[in-house]
Amino acid sequence: LPTIPVIAVDGPSASGKGSVADRVAQQLGFHYLDSGAIYRLLAYAAQAQQVAWSDGPVLAQVAAEMHIQFEAGEIYLNGIAVSQHIRSEQMGKGASEVAVHPDVRKALLQTQKNFRQLPGLVADGRDMGSVVFPDARLKVFLTAGVETRAQRRFDQLIQRGEQADFNTILEDLKQRDLRDSQRTSAPLQQLPDALLVDTTHMTIAQAVAMILDAWKKCI
Ligand code: CDP
Ligand code: CDP
Repeated sequence: LPTIPVIAVDGPSASGKGSVADRVAQQLGFHYLDSGAIYRLLAYAAQAQQVAWSDGPVLAQVAAEMHIQFEAGEIYLNGIAVSQHIRSEQMGKGASEVAVHPDVRKALLQTQKNFRQLPGLVADGRDMGSVVFPDARLKVFLTAGVETRAQRRFDQLIQRGEQADFNTILEDLKQRDLRDSQRTSAPLQQLPDALLVDTTHMTIAQAVAMILDAWKKCI
């Protein structure tokens, strides 16, 4: 039986994974998985249930009980639309804290694998190519300089009409980079078989084109 094709897009925060992976999926008519949203949902659910982001065993239980639906740009947790609540920098930080626990990652593994449906999947996160879809047909490491990423986050927050301080965002990003790449369980890493896409001086469209080009050579 031929396996359902997966394109794994991993990289640090604000490198453009979501924007790029979503467009690649649209171009190919593939499904799209924003795996970071799942960790954000857990951080949010834990906060609502007053479970500490440091409590691995209880978090794993909360994770196992989550019912998640992605539908037309909205994300539902147990039937309630929560995408507004989970996209804050606070929930990004919470996500990276709950994500360090091996029990949590194990509890969320099958949920992520279930997104692998015909005709194919584009999945973005930190461990798509290393752990969740190690047999992905194409693996991409999408990155950009940290200052560029901080500027992108800053612009995003301003556009949403939120308060933002560039230096705070830069420091938070550096901390998140460290936490995500130095944890022992499924750290962010540039795999030797991954296509490097450095978007520091690239538009979203250019990054998409580069991935689609590589994809054509895979099939
Ligand atoms: O998913 P991830 O956190 O990696 O990044 P994103 O949310 O897709 O992108 C962060 C911001 O950077 C968005 O506002 C994108 O439009 C912007 N971006 C950009 O300006 N140029 C790129 N080449 C990639 C992303
Ligand atoms: O959009 P941004 O890149 O800032 O973050 P995200 O992709 O929504 O992920 C939020 C956090 O979840 C990351 O900082 C990681 O710690 C964690 N995460 C993970 O551990 N594994 C994944 N596959 C995706 C996200």
